[in-house]
Amino acid sequence: MCGIVGYIGNGETQQILLEGLKKLEYRGYDSAGIAVFTEQGLEVTKSKGRIANLEEKLEGTPLLGSVGIGHTRWATHGKPSDVNSHPHTDNSHQFSVVHNGIIENYLDLKEELIAKGHVFVSETDTEVVSHLIAEEYDGNLVEAVQRAVKHMRGAYALGVLTSHEPDKLVAVRYASPLVIGIGEGENFIGSDIPAILEYTRNVYILDDGDMAVLTHDGVELFNLEGKSIAKDIVHIDWDLVTAEKAGFDHFMLKEIYEQPKAYRETMLGRVSEDGKSVDLSKELEMNDEYIRSISKVHIVACGTAYHAGLVGKSVIESLARIPVETDVASEYRYRSPIITPDTLVIVVSQSGETADTLAAMREAQRNGARVLAITNVVGSSVAREANDVIATWAGPEIAVASTKAYSSQLIAFYLLGLHLARVLGTKEEAELTHIIEGLTALPEQVESILEQASVLKQVAESMSHHTSLFFIGRGVDYAVAQEGSLKLKEISYIHSEAYAAGELKHGTLALIEDDIPVIALVTQEGLFEKTLSNITEVKARGAHVFAVTNQGFEAEVAKSVDEVFAIPKTLPVLTPALAVVPLQLISYYASLALGHDVDKPRNLAKSVTVE
Ligand code: G6P
Repeated sequence: MCGIVGYIGNGETQQILLEGLKKLEYRGYDSAGIAVFTEQGLEVTKSKGRIANLEEKLEGTPLLGSVGIGHTRWATHGKPSDVNSHPHTDNSHQFSVVHNGIIENYLDLKEELIAKGHVFVSETDTEVVSHLIAEEYDGNLVEAVQRAVKHMRGAYALGVLTSHEPDKLVAVRYASPLVIGIGEGENFIGSDIPAILEYTRNVYILDDGDMAVLTHDGVELFNLEGKSIAKDIVHIDWDLVTAEKAGFDHFMLKEIYEQPKAYRETMLGRVSEDGKSVDLSKELEMNDEYIRSISKVHIVACGTAYHAGLVGKSVIESLARIPVETDVASEYRYRSPIITPDTLVIVVSQSGETADTLAAMREAQRNGARVLAITNVVGSSVAREANDVIATWAGPEIAVASTKAYSSQLIAFYLLGLHLARVLGTKEEAELTHIIEGLTALPEQVESILEQASVLKQVAESMSHHTSLFFIGRGVDYAVAQEGSLKLKEISYIHSEAYAAGELKHGTLALIEDDIPVIALVTQEGLFEKTLSNITEVKARGAHVFAVTNQGFEAEVAKSVDEVFAIPKTLPVLTPALAVVPLQLISYYASLALGHDVDKPRNLAKSVTVE
């Protein structure tokens, strides 16, 4: 997704912008550019592709100045190209803009501007913004931006420069995140904190409709009516080192190995010290009376977070006995869901900025539902707008393919399920304690799986030359199969499908042919025999079956499959938090064997802030 960085001060502007953009690479992008006010005026250099391409362009002709803006673009309006990259300028080259989000009425605005004589060179909505600001300018940039945004509909985080007022950098936010970094004699803007963390830990987090005017010496904050506003400075105490690879070849591998730690952190302070109870009442605003009034739960999320929601459904239904529906966020709003005041809507989002998830959440709130967010980014839009938040505390996740964020979302669902079950009295105390014991054993059990990574590497390598494969499972195994399949597709580009094991024979069995790999999840004790007979069906058609099962059952399962991998024994409801780990490793090693860019798969973005 797009990234913004901006700088004003006496430091090395170009370098600061480029370094900031590199810190945002993890968001996914297809082009990059910077604009700096130099002795020649406002100069822009941009390039399709990686930041390295931009650096190459700048090598002979650096942009020297003390104010600049930079951008990594992930194409929405118009293909990835030099000309569609940001920053965009107006016809006079006096105004330059970087933008995250989408201006929904840009075509109407463009038409009006063309009628006034503006000439456009790109296909983007952002170029319209630079022209609009130029059109509104009559000697005061701040007022011009205020007037311009009044014409705009949609989502925007903007960084704006003009050569008329080169001592100023203007930033404004509406429905797309933006932070202001406060330095000494220098100030910064960033769409994400990592972009500026190397230079300052003191930030303002802008809210919708906030505007910041940065000079060398200070930052002034306004609303869109031009009224001065006050905000607390937030001190960021997390470290950039945690966002670096720490000796692993890829962020994804590092993040897979961080899962035991992430599980512990997610449970920290939520499971009592004696390990016997779970209590979220300190952090949840919802009280017991509200919990008793919940008639149904909707879980809404995108991508991997949606897959965590599928497990969450089964956790809440089995522990708290509340009916749960699970939806992908991009569908939820448009199916007229029946949302009543006693519907608890749970949104799940690693980044807390996914546009579809945010929109679904707002729709739910408009309909009177209470929204609980499970997110990894405290301070994100989702976290700030939800009525209740369970932070997953997994730490920054950089690889586009989500691993520790997903699995810590599972832990959050277990904690929530246990909390609801206690309040509602749907499970005996002893049974809850038994589940909590299982939960607290998970981190060590994941460690034992990670120790067997080399076995999974071999499995992955042998599968990597296939063009298609299947994942099958029943119950929560099917939910995990879907996540395993998505992970493989995302980073190895091998086509795969996840199927409910019993559904295979209703059509897709036709695709099972000699030697096709099938990854079967067989961890649900009550469903063993059923799943094994489905495995027999694919074996009979020549499939090569790799099964993930529980320790103690390897010998039994081995009779029906070609290879078995055993995860440590746990309660059926908890197996997803273990079973997903071998699947993550298989995806990682398959991608590696095929020589792909593991952390930045093609066409995908870490955080998708457009609908
Ligand atoms: C993108 C990412 C996925 C992620 C999804 C939801 O599509 O590529 O990995 O699962 O967004 O993101 P969120 O931040 O809301 O969990």
